Amino acid sequence: MSRILPDLFARNRAWAAATEAREPGFFTRLLQQQTPQYLWIGCADSRVPANELVGLLPGELFVHRNVGNLVVHSDLNALSVIQYAVDVLHVSHIIVVGHSNCGGVRAALTDERAGLVDNWLRYVQDVRDAHEAFLAGLDESLRVDALVELNVLEQARNVCHTTVARDAWQRGQTVAVHGWVYGLHDGLLEDLSMTVASAEEVGPAYASALALMKQRWQQRQVQIGA
Ligand code: CO
Repeated sequence: MSRILPDLFARNRAWAAATEAREPGFFTRLLQQQTPQYLWIGCADSRVPANELVGLLPGELFVHRNVGNLVVHSDLNALSVIQYAVDVLHVSHIIVVGHSNCGGVRAALTDERAGLVDNWLRYVQDVRDAHEAFLAGLDESLRVDALVELNVLEQARNVCHTTVARDAWQRGQTVAVHGWVYGLHDGLLEDLSMTVASAEEVGPAYASALALMKQRWQQRQVQIGA
């Protein structure tokens, strides 16, 4: 293994040159300001490249990623990203994005041991346990992706409960929180119909998105006839 990764540096030079050729002055303009409209909170999974899959360029998407796209109430890292995005960059949208076949969610679901990360995934297990009866009613082949969606709704709700979101709404700032899932199999995003733009909407939006989501998975359960 090379210690200096020449391949990556060569690819980087090619990318920078191609970007500059396509849009002369691109990097100089980026230097002046960063004004993304969106904060993306997604999984660290290497198959879910945030900017790329929504066709956004550097400067257009503020990104936070961790294993399982979690927003933990006391996670200073995620909270700092959300605070900076809302208070300083004034993003209009915060999008929590889970993805199908998530390894973190799968491990959490099945109590697979991977090491230290198990402790982090404990938060996904809290979500699993809160919806134990619903998940038990689904075929095993459906459970991972169902839990992926439950987890997105839960983490989107956690964003809404941060002091950052609540304070922003209180002072009349326009910022909407969304819950999406990305399909590894087809590269497509799906909106889980949880869009929240005020403190009053949090409870009702979560409840209706959850009901819709459960309905959808119960239909799938019927379809596979298990
Ligand atoms: Co994942």
